[in-house]
Amino acid sequence: MKNIVVLVSGGGTNLQALIDAVERGEIKNGRISCVISSREGAFALERAAMHGIKGIVLPRRSFPDSESYSEAMLEVLKSEKADVIVYAGFMTILSKCVCDAFPYKMVNVHPALIPSFCGKGYYGLRVHEEALARGVKVTGATVHFVTDVCDGGPIILQKAVNVEKDDTPETLQRRVMEQAEWKILPEAVSLLCDDRIEIKDGRAYVI
Ligand code: GAR
Repeated sequence: MKNIVVLVSGGGTNLQALIDAVERGEIKNGRISCVISSREGAFALERAAMHGIKGIVLPRRSFPDSESYSEAMLEVLKSEKADVIVYAGFMTILSKCVCDAFPYKMVNVHPALIPSFCGKGYYGLRVHEEALARGVKVTGATVHFVTDVCDGGPIILQKAVNVEKDDTPETLQRRVMEQAEWKILPEAVSLLCDDRIEIKDGRAYVI
């Protein structure tokens, strides 16, 4: 049974999707052993507590820079014996030391079809604002491995979602979550826990 550690910063609806998938028996070879939040008071921590999952707060603002934050995070991940690490609405970029310690063991869910609307600065509602401003007719979500290139690691799963004519960033965000993120994130985590993702020539394949 793999220890899944989930990193969060906010509301935690993707964490909830993972909790539900574990409770429904859809993730067979993993258990959520701990949730780490970069923000105090994140509602995701309450979701964890409601399901008897250990919550840890490691506030980003208590650290002067990304490097010192990443070193502290690495220590926590090691002491929690993390096997699989999931960025679920985690809004902090961790440095290379963390990525190198967990190669192909960390995944992120991004609310767009990478390589569109991704990279530094593209997170949360901003992604949907940019998609609407560009007038795309289809967007979606991507689950990919985390490497030291922001949103640049091998893509595991993607799902497309239609943009509707009268969408606002908020309605589009909700549809992308419901139709894509909450489905492909638990699916990818399940595949990872089952050792069913292979990396070849820098690309990820489901086996
Ligand atoms: C989700 O849409 C997630 O994809 C996005 O933030 C939201 C968090 O929601 N993450 C990013 O933009 C990371 N680049 P949640 O806290 O309810 O899961």
